[in-house]
Amino acid sequence: MTCVSFVAAIDGPAGAGKSTLARKVASLLGMRYLDTGALYRAIAFSLYSRQVLPEEGPEMDAAIDDISVEILEDGLLLNGKDVGKEIRSPLVDSIVSSYAALPSVRKHLLSVQREQGKIGALVADGRDMGTVIFPDANVKIFLTASDEVRAKRRLLELRERGEDLSYEEVLQTIRERDRVDSERSAAPLRKAEGAIEMNTDALSIEEAVAELASIISERKRSVTG
Ligand code: CDP
Repeated sequence: MTCVSFVAAIDGPAGAGKSTLARKVASLLGMRYLDTGALYRAIAFSLYSRQVLPEEGPEMDAAIDDISVEILEDGLLLNGKDVGKEIRSPLVDSIVSSYAALPSVRKHLLSVQREQGKIGALVADGRDMGTVIFPDANVKIFLTASDEVRAKRRLLELRERGEDLSYEEVLQTIRERDRVDSERSAAPLRKAEGAIEMNTDALSIEEAVAELASIISERKRSVTG
């Protein structure tokens, strides 16, 4: 598969800061941003709400056929509806990985993601950007941070949204999500060949954005001249 536009593929475990950083870097460099986690969250939210269990079979196939996701400039529509708030809930945090592990779910979201790589220079973040969706990406980053730092960041985010969870609960959900995402056979979370690993433990958001932007813009210059 060839990437028509310049693509920066960012992968990494839950809460490593991918979406915060990717969004900021894309805006800084005048690129588009694709949050693929939101697509999996939306589809999981829809299936769970309709009481479809995370199992392959005719029921799953029929339910998936009824789901449409449309990617907008800043967000997405699930069957025409904005579900931006609903998909960030602790409930969706705890169920999304079991749906994302299903090949039928991943297949449903394949072309909608790849299409985004043809529209214009793109920063895309998720779990399989560099390995499956954009294997020819111009630059691949694997973003990490320790479990504890990731849990603390996610806890702050959830508290800001008024969710009352303990540090231990958040840490456990993050670890469980990483386990399921890494152990699944369909597009498991792993560092793509040739990916640059970046650990954000000791970096502020501004420092991480600056480092990421410098890696991507340098690669962009070398590709576009
Ligand atoms: O923001 P955070 O890293 O916590 O998660 P996310 O990017 O919103 O992704 C939510 C979940 O969707 C992940 O835990 C994966 O189970 C799934 N996902 C995936 O399987 N493949 C992707 N490309 C993106 C997300």
